[in-house]
Amino acid sequence: MTSPLLSIAGLSAVSDRDGGALILRDVSLTLERGEVRGLVGESGAGKSTIAKALLGILPRSVRITTGSILFENRGLLTLSARELRGIMGSEISLIPQDPQTALNPGRRIEAQLTDGLRLKRGMSSRDARQRALKLLDEVHIHNPERVLRAYPHELSGGMRQRILIAAAFALEPKLVVADEPTTALDVTVQKQILRLIRGLQEAHGTAVIFVTHDLGVVAQICDSVTLLYAGKVIEEGRTSDVLAHPQHIYTKSLVAAGPRYDRPDAGLTPVPQAVFDQLRREIGIAKESR
Ligand SMILES: Nc1ncnc2c1ncn2[C@@H]1O[C@H](COP(=O)(O)OP(=O)(O)O)[C@@H](O)[C@H]1O
Ligand SMILES: [Mg+2]
Repeated sequence: MTSPLLSIAGLSAVSDRDGGALILRDVSLTLERGEVRGLVGESGAGKSTIAKALLGILPRSVRITTGSILFENRGLLTLSARELRGIMGSEISLIPQDPQTALNPGRRIEAQLTDGLRLKRGMSSRDARQRALKLLDEVHIHNPERVLRAYPHELSGGMRQRILIAAAFALEPKLVVADEPTTALDVTVQKQILRLIRGLQEAHGTAVIFVTHDLGVVAQICDSVTLLYAGKVIEEGRTSDVLAHPQHIYTKSLVAAGPRYDRPDAGLTPVPQAVFDQLRREIGIAKESR
């Protein structure tokens, strides 16, 4: 059997900002090559903490206390800063949440798309430019020459998000981490962006960790899903199985509450308080705190 692309085992973390509170509780997760995994949970569940741990960008105020992250059998938590720099952007890359702030406002798109190709892949400026044009075409940007000359403020939010997606796939990484990349977009644009990410990941065989609070998004693009609450894995499995036959009462009430995954515009019904009480008992958190 070949080893998985990514294997997170027994990962726990505390937040110094929240007075040493546990923010990840013994999280384990295995990802195969080319798999799209949804990491889902309400705000504060620990989704971004896991994403940041994968990208080597955890803030100082978050401390990993136990566990390991193996990426192609390399322990990401024990690599030197130099080794991490070799992997990040190149083998693991990020599609960020906010297209407004993720691009450098003072540099043309061409410079921002070609930096990595020149510096990390040793391409000439000319080859990098050709590759950037091809990438823009892959994210369905129809006037790529003009876009390469543009500064970020000259482009719409949807356009900037496409460019960030192109940048994330530029170096043919093995894993793309997308942290709520469609939260800031309206539903129609969101659908297009999800299709785009799915199309690129299929074309390139890239694995994706897709962070979202929305089961509707999971239903649209994820092969498998891991549901978190208060830093603990509550349920995981193939998306179709989990949505059709949720096992945990929390998953059941989320699936029942919506937004309905077949109707993402439908309203939210809150999860009953009794379900949160049960979750906290199971996890062992006091009623007041979270
Ligand atoms: N920079 C930080 N330093 C310390 N603790 C943090 C930091 N960012 C988030 N946390 C804490 O980590 C917990 C999980 O947050 P996060 O991973 O951002 O959740 P999610 O992405 O699921 O909304 C929260 O309790 C939050 O207070
Ligand atoms: Mg987050």
